[in-house]
Amino acid sequence: MQIHLSLDGAGGLGQRLYEGLRRALLDGQVSVGERLPPSRVLAAELGVSRRLVVEAYERLVAEGFLGATPGRGTFVERVPPPLPREADRAGPGPGAHWRPPLAWGGRLAPGRHNFPGGVTDRALLPWAAWRRAMMAALREASRDIGFYGDPRGEASLRLAIARYLGYSRGLACDSDAVLITQGAQQGLDLLARVRVAPGDTVAVEEPGYPPARAVFEARGARVVPVPVDEQGLCVDALPPEASVVYVTPSHQFPLGMPLSLERRLALLAFARRHDALVVEDDYDGEFRFEGRPLDALKSLDREGRVAYLGSFSKVLHADLRLGYLVMPPGLAPALPGARAFSDGYPPLVTQRALARLMIDGDFARHLRRMQRLYTIRRRRLGEALAARPDLWTPLPQVAGIHVALRLAAPVPDLPARLAAAEIRANPLAPFHMGEAAHDGLLLGFGVIDGDAIDRGVAALAEAVAG
Ligand SMILES: Cc1ncc(COP(=O)(O)O)c(C=O)c1O
Repeated sequence: MQIHLSLDGAGGLGQRLYEGLRRALLDGQVSVGERLPPSRVLAAELGVSRRLVVEAYERLVAEGFLGATPGRGTFVERVPPPLPREADRAGPGPGAHWRPPLAWGGRLAPGRHNFPGGVTDRALLPWAAWRRAMMAALREASRDIGFYGDPRGEASLRLAIARYLGYSRGLACDSDAVLITQGAQQGLDLLARVRVAPGDTVAVEEPGYPPARAVFEARGARVVPVPVDEQGLCVDALPPEASVVYVTPSHQFPLGMPLSLERRLALLAFARRHDALVVEDDYDGEFRFEGRPLDALKSLDREGRVAYLGSFSKVLHADLRLGYLVMPPGLAPALPGARAFSDGYPPLVTQRALARLMIDGDFARHLRRMQRLYTIRRRRLGEALAARPDLWTPLPQVAGIHVALRLAAPVPDLPARLAAAEIRANPLAPFHMGEAAHDGLLLGFGVIDGDAIDRGVAALAEAVAG
């Protein structure tokens, strides 16, 4: 029989020979009952002394792997069963069974017609102001004699955000209650860690935001989908045992309607009755298009039952990985600790640069400019879509940078048709936990402009009509 032996490794030649043989047995190169080469033959093959081979065989006999019968040779007596292929891939150890509940796609490649949901255009960022702010933050950091940062984030940025929330979202909050996160996603994760235990019930909107569901599922929560109608979340349908309710009140994700005032009050009353936490995800409430919008739900919260999540992903860019959490007083002691044990604290220089951008007014200028631009794009997209009432109905949208459409008739293989036409748009079906009654589409207008909108809608019409 042939065995492949590696004599690599540390230690003397005898030790390496013994380890090589043992590895060959454990790797399953030989099976029970097979005879090993006579010591003289193996020694000649490997160019080592016969004594070393005899000693290695004797050790393996003593360990029970091999058996020796005088006059007949040395046999394989016992080897562990081979590892299943699945275990091979997952690797051993605790946690190897864990799989993220979502498949992440990595960087999204642009297509010919780009309506990706919630993505903004890097080219439109205030680069000159950002460069100035970064240079100033670097100069400041070079003179800083501090050691580690505050797990809640830099005081200057927390203060700038607290002020911004006051005038932009009607939310009076103290900067001590603000915790800077790496995007809304980290805020969700921290809230789930401190507030959700395995088996707890968490209510989410149906359809809703899959990464939020995934965070709660990963904590072992029972995630219950609750329908939305034209007023937003159907509060009457909340399961009474829900200890956490996740909502997107400004711009329901993905359908787009705001949560009505009546429902907001009903939701706060539910939270009081059931001692539940409401997680308000205000991911793109800054951009508003019709009349005066409702302020943040959190601005109505007199009892500290709402945790408010904000993000710079839509107002600037997701690549910044910056967001914030306004902590309800009950969770304010636990959250910074959870953050400290996760990634310590947010990066110093980016935070200071963003604080400067906000304090110097460049951020507000950028928001005003984007508001004007998005108003024009939204109108153009609305007009292009309105030309094909036979194919779809756009849902009312008063805030945010995407619109949702209901398709007039089911479209078989919708994702494949979009891919074939190189259209980047999200079908609505994957945002449902259950079966979607009607399919539809989410069209973002963060990276598409002018004539490209008309061309994209024409391509979409062709793909949908088949
Ligand atoms: C509902 C919702 N929440 C939050 C976010 C932003 O997440 P992050 O701040 O982690 O980029 C998005 C982005 O698409 C979103 O759609």
